[in-house]
Amino acid sequence: MKKVVKFAALAAAAVMGVAALSGCGGSSDTLTMGTNAAFPPFEFTTTNGLVGEFDGIDVAIAKRIAESMGKELVIEDMEFDGLIASVKTGKVDMAVAGMTVNPERLENVDFSDTYYVATQVMVVQPDDTSITKAEDLKNGKKVGVVLGYTGDTIVTETLQVPEENIVRANRGIDVVQDVKNGRLDAVVVDSATGKALAEKNGLKVVEDPEVFESEEYAIAVQKGNTELLDQINEVLAEMTANGEIDALAEQYDGATGE
Ligand code: ARG
Repeated sequence: MKKVVKFAALAAAAVMGVAALSGCGGSSDTLTMGTNAAFPPFEFTTTNGLVGEFDGIDVAIAKRIAESMGKELVIEDMEFDGLIASVKTGKVDMAVAGMTVNPERLENVDFSDTYYVATQVMVVQPDDTSITKAEDLKNGKKVGVVLGYTGDTIVTETLQVPEENIVRANRGIDVVQDVKNGRLDAVVVDSATGKALAEKNGLKVVEDPEVFESEEYAIAVQKGNTELLDQINEVLAEMTANGEIDALAEQYDGATGE
């Protein structure tokens, strides 16, 4: 009898220890969002953001999700390329990063319902008349993309721009700068981000809906984490139905932080 009690006490202590250490399990009081905060207006850094220095549409949505669970939102800012692995290994509870659902990612994580529909656009110099459609990028143009973004896949695989003409950066903000200073002819990036960065830098956006299909943004969670996924979907459904997401898109339209 004594032994059993001792064992039970030890087991309880062990469970509590693990919960306290992991910091992002179901029983903790924080909800950890992985993101790459170089993607305005969805996530960017600013002096006084919604959560610490972080602000944007995704930050606002994630905050609502955390609140609905009575938890505090913690943000882990990392390379976009590392997000899926971080969700997979449980380093973060969810990735909220303007992330497009695609078959490759679906093999590794589960996605929530769609909360935003975007497309790729081309950001070019304001007086450029040589780029009016996606195919024009194949005519010896230097094209910038961000490593691991869907725009990278489209430029590389769909359009098959020659490899020597593609420049891959870690942040959209940096490649758009290179269009401004003439090192690149165009950047292919998501619509709302392209628009915000073009406005900020005095550049223009060129669309080509025939080549650039619509992309659905959703929140990624660890495979099988239906408890969190259901909670996320509930909040997203509410925010969609009551117009909160539309209001956020409007509120943050063109926002880039610093
Ligand atoms: N929608 C694109 C993708 O899923 C780009 C997302 C970039 N997001 C970010 N937070 N940096 O590949």
